Amino acid sequence: MKIVDAFVIFLLACALTYNVFESTNSLEYSAAHFPVLDNLFIDDQFFLKEVQHVSKIECSISCSREAKCVCFFYNYPARKCRLHSSRFYNVQEGTSVSNWTYYMLGEGWCPVHDGFIHERSYNMCIHISSGNFDDIYTARSYCQSKGAAVISANTQLRATGLSNIMSKMNTTYIEFNDKGYYQLYIGLEYVNNTWTWDDGSVISSVQNWGKNDPDDIINHVCATICKTPDSSWNWTWNNVRCTAVMHVICEIV
Ligand SMILES: *[C@@H]1O[C@H](CO)[C@@H](O)[C@H](O)[C@H]1NC(C)=O
Ligand SMILES: *[C@@H]1O[C@H](CO)[C@@H](O)[C@H](O)[C@H]1NC(C)=O
Ligand SMILES: *[C@@H]1O[C@H](CO)[C@@H](O)[C@H](O)[C@H]1NC(C)=O
Ligand SMILES: *[C@@H]1O[C@H](CO)[C@@H](O)[C@H](O)[C@H]1NC(C)=O
Repeated sequence: MKIVDAFVIFLLACALTYNVFESTNSLEYSAAHFPVLDNLFIDDQFFLKEVQHVSKIECSISCSREAKCVCFFYNYPARKCRLHSSRFYNVQEGTSVSNWTYYMLGEGWCPVHDGFIHERSYNMCIHISSGNFDDIYTARSYCQSKGAAVISANTQLRATGLSNIMSKMNTTYIEFNDKGYYQLYIGLEYVNNTWTWDDGSVISSVQNWGKNDPDDIINHVCATICKTPDSSWNWTWNNVRCTAVMHVICEIV
């Protein structure tokens, strides 16, 4: 059986089992924007589908069966369910707007209770430190203490995913330096004349350096993901001293 056939049969089976009416109509979705939540941490591309005539449990099951679903909204009076592929950052579970209540899918292997974000679109489980570290070495120890490592992003999906996640984050709590730069260590270091990821892999052709980087690879042999006010770095990589004071992004793989 071809994969496409299998997928069609799977969809039919779901439709028969749950009598769902799917809707991914963008006009209909626009009409249902949640003023408090929309345009803050997420954009419409992360809306997956709407399921009608279901209980909250059925909504949760629909989410868990959908490969990309990480959270859902349930409307009790209307018995409607909306699935999303991206977390609404910094929004508390249980928040209600216009009868739509926000729920996150169970945390599974990613310790969401410990400040990690599970981004199923990219299958990434990351944690952004709330404080700065004096150097990459203490930053690495911090990630290790959380059962994680400083993030490696040696594929297109992961490099793009990391930038997209950062551009959606509410970064207000991340301190920026006197130039207004946001900078967070990533697990990339220039070792033996090669940029090497903390997971041991040598840098591939996938690279996401900002303007003119990497420069000064004598002194600046560690790296951050960086955002500057003029967008010369737009959540792109910047090579820095390994003793620069920075936040860090940890990841569990
Ligand atoms: C929320 O549900 C109540 C009870 O069914 C209903 O009266 C009210 O109109 C709903 N509010 C919105 C904004 O849909
Ligand atoms: C970002 O977070 C800060 C601090 O928690 C808050 O004051 C601000 O309103 C948030 N920004 C948005 C766009 O929600
Ligand atoms: C760098 O190269 C030297 C000599 O080949 C080797 O002994 C050392 O383990 C390498 N260091 C790393 C971090 O790979
Ligand atoms: C920065 O990145 C965001 C998200 O990818 C994009 O929407 C924006 O246009 C970029 N800005 C610049 C100046 O490149």
